[in-house]
Amino acid sequence: MQQVVAIVNHKGGVGKTTSAVNIAACWGEMGKRVLVIDLDPQGSASLSFGIADDGNALLHALQQTTALPFLSTTARGVDLVPAGHGLAEARQRFVGTVGGELLMRCLKHTEGQWDFVIVDCPPSLGILTINALKASAHVVIPVEANYLSFSGLSQMIQAVNTFQSQRNPVLSVRGIIPCRAQARRRIHGEFLAMMEKLLPGGIGPMVRENVSLAEAPSSGLPVVLYYPNSNGAYDYRRVAQWLLERLAL
Ligand SMILES: Nc1ncnc2c1ncn2[C@@H]1O[C@H](COP(=O)(O)OP(=O)(O)OP(=O)(O)O)[C@@H](O)[C@H]1O
Ligand SMILES: [Mg+2]
Repeated sequence: MQQVVAIVNHKGGVGKTTSAVNIAACWGEMGKRVLVIDLDPQGSASLSFGIADDGNALLHALQQTTALPFLSTTARGVDLVPAGHGLAEARQRFVGTVGGELLMRCLKHTEGQWDFVIVDCPPSLGILTINALKASAHVVIPVEANYLSFSGLSQMIQAVNTFQSQRNPVLSVRGIIPCRAQARRRIHGEFLAMMEKLLPGGIGPMVRENVSLAEAPSSGLPVVLYYPNSNGAYDYRRVAQWLLERLAL
């Protein structure tokens, strides 16, 4: 069965897109078939694969609840539903319960075509993220490893739990990925311990701050293709393996 994973955090710039793109590329390397859905009008996931898009085709497919328009990427096994600024219209056009179920309905047209569908969400809990949460079974939350991120994290988990009880009983937070970590800082160890209390057993391998991860998007390649031997590629391979095992539980 196709498993849908939403990469969510209402905080901006924490590593959602970097995680979505690179976990997808690592799973592709491991022989999985993966679809990345760029559900952010910023279009960052698309640009990270070297694809610029206006987002109108995705907006239209959601509105008509037809199959999503996807294309293949440079990463083995990875397809992409691209997005861009036109998708911002969703905020005005999609309302109410039905407006939050459009992505789920669209995905029914292609059930089983991929092993995993990864949804890269915008930094808000608006209608696009609601669509992702309704369509998904799994939530992965990338966080920046610092104290201020921690306060937002408990709110985020609470929001997903509320959504689960009201609108999607199969939804659960499967992992927290500490991103942009600087392991030598003492705060980092304290932060990991606090997170472990929030989601016991659910804290993934950390992703270190790494220049290749910051550079890769401008080349339009996931880090495993841009610089396969970088720390960034190493860290995301570990995260991808860990998450694969968690989702199989
Ligand atoms: N581990 C890392 N090391 C170095 N740079 C990173 C790392 N992770 C992410 N970045 C960089 O930080 C910036 C923000 O990351 P990213 O776009 O993944 O965050 P985001 O949560 O998707 O942001 P937004 O909320 O705007 O969608 C990007 O420029 C990205 O290249
Ligand atoms: Mg992003």
